[in-house]
Amino acid sequence: MKALIKGTGSYLPEKVLTNHDLEKMVHTSDKWIMERTGIKERRIAPDDASASDLAVPAAERAMESAGIDARDIDLIIVGTSTPDMFFPSTACFVQAKIKAKNAVAFDLLGACSGFIFALATAKSFIESGQYKNALIIGAEVYSSIINWEDRTTCVLFGDGAGAVVLSRSEGDAGIISTHIFSDGTKSDYLMTPGGGSALRFTPEMISEKKYSLTMLGNKIFKVAIKSMVEAAQAAIDHNGIKPSDIKMVIPHQANARIIRGVAKYLDLDESLFFENLEKYGNTAAASIPIALDEAVREGRVGPGDLLLLVAFGGGFTWGSVLLRL
Ligand code: ACO
Repeated sequence: MKALIKGTGSYLPEKVLTNHDLEKMVHTSDKWIMERTGIKERRIAPDDASASDLAVPAAERAMESAGIDARDIDLIIVGTSTPDMFFPSTACFVQAKIKAKNAVAFDLLGACSGFIFALATAKSFIESGQYKNALIIGAEVYSSIINWEDRTTCVLFGDGAGAVVLSRSEGDAGIISTHIFSDGTKSDYLMTPGGGSALRFTPEMISEKKYSLTMLGNKIFKVAIKSMVEAAQAAIDHNGIKPSDIKMVIPHQANARIIRGVAKYLDLDESLFFENLEKYGNTAAASIPIALDEAVREGRVGPGDLLLLVAFGGGFTWGSVLLRL
């Protein structure tokens, strides 16, 4: 029994924030952002839009492309680090909005690796026979946790959502392997420190903007490459595949230089790597399902193709998924 991706969907808010717009907000330049990251613009959700508001159209598009009704979904997992609220889970809000009344729904927090961790979790549930049709979503509103005065982070992130329908299948296609990892000793390299039980809401916490994301970007850079290489290599070695077997690598879209580094250390051609971060920036857990949906809808990948998904994020967390469409 395999867990097969039956349909994909994504949703990006309409509002575009360009590097030139950011030049008017912080001391930065289009040239710096392009050279250091490859990002040109990103999408920003309206102030009153939550992660579940972005997740719902992505989920509906995935269900439409899978030809499946919401009533047939029995598991919903939302990978997000910008949930609607601490609780109820964003997945429960999605369940109510799409009327998937037969599903169990919960969130999974893996920062930028959230979608990979959610796919790995759903695969186990489906292969065990417990669930038949899962809706796996990555949905993020990072604009809600960005300090818009911090040029080292505000230029990097964007909002969006992507989703897949993962269904039980008897054929050869489906998820072949998952490898997921964490290292909690480096948690302070990338975090939103305030607002939880560790650093509670106080006027000082709010005035010091401790509810927003902090990142030691250049300390993470090399670890991100090394970890994504480790996760991708684990998939390659475990399954005894050759680079030429892989139709496309879909990496987390954090930085074009990180993607180039991963390609170099894996000795894979850069052209194998899907990239859309120029348009959307880093959408955290949403980046891989958005990229996958674009690759499918543009006809760049299709049934029978072997794909390698690989991510790295806060925690640290990292992982890979090898699958046949
Ligand atoms: N505009 C202009 N200058 C800037 C900007 C900016 N937006 N941001 C930083 N700088 C300056 C710095 O102050 C520094 O100046 P200095 O040399 O005078 O001190 C200089 O540019 C170089 O800064 P670095 O941080 O060394 O730049 P780097 O080349 O490392 O690029 C970046 C920074 C893009 C953040 C990169 O390190 C990176 O991509 N890191 C990894 C991010 C990542 O993968 N995160 C994990 C996933 S995200 C998640 O899980 C939520």
